[in-house]
Amino acid sequence: MAGRVRHLDPVYAVEPLEPTHHDHPMRTVTNEMAAGGEFAAADAEAVQTLFDSMAGEWHRHDVAERLIALEDALQRSDLPAGVLVELGAGTGIGTKVIARFRPVHAAIDLSAGMLAQAPPGLAPWTRADASQLPLADRSVDVLVLLNMLLFPAEVDRVLAPGGALVWVNTVGEATPIHLSPEAVVDAVPGEWVADASRAGAGIWCVARRAEVGQD
Ligand SMILES: C[S@@+](CC[C@H](N)C(=O)[O-])C[C@H]1O[C@@H](n2cnc3c(N)ncnc32)[C@H](O)[C@@H]1O
Repeated sequence: MAGRVRHLDPVYAVEPLEPTHHDHPMRTVTNEMAAGGEFAAADAEAVQTLFDSMAGEWHRHDVAERLIALEDALQRSDLPAGVLVELGAGTGIGTKVIARFRPVHAAIDLSAGMLAQAPPGLAPWTRADASQLPLADRSVDVLVLLNMLLFPAEVDRVLAPGGALVWVNTVGEATPIHLSPEAVVDAVPGEWVADASRAGAGIWCVARRAEVGQD
């Protein structure tokens, strides 16, 4: 479990926010899941209840400046063609951005309340648990996680050879569900290489499995 991260110069003005939310319950879960912890039925229930309760107000997060990092990641990365799946799509705030670049084959979320707020027709909205995805092994070319928990074993299982993992935190280190690019590539089994950058207050990282002999 190791990876190398190349930090690209930011294109957009950067004003990183103060790192916050160290003790936020979602940060604790984020770190536990990245470390390979079990996402038990009680965790799924708690996460679902939490986001169901916030779904009606989630449109407040739909702010253009907060989506700069996702847009920058999609613009500046040479992503493989093929099947793109978004995990933790919520109300589709990020899905709307992704869909401007390419089709979204599935937009997955655990919270029915969040999905109920998503724009109909934009993507196949799918209620499922990202810790046990209803996807075949090696069936996805691009996985996008915007402010979403990382389940390393499932990422490893469903990503096709040559596939890419796009990790974005809209407000960088102030995002409750935050991992650094280094933590992302270290979490996923195998050897990974990644490009990362900042855009606005956000951070992004696009990781791929390292090819044999790659420096
Ligand atoms: C912080 S919200 C982000 C939503 C959206 N990506 C955005 O940035 O507006 C995290 C989302 O991940 C979903 N989520 C958390 N754990 C999940 C899991 N195990 N499987 C699927 N979705 C999950 C939540 O329901 C929630 O909608």
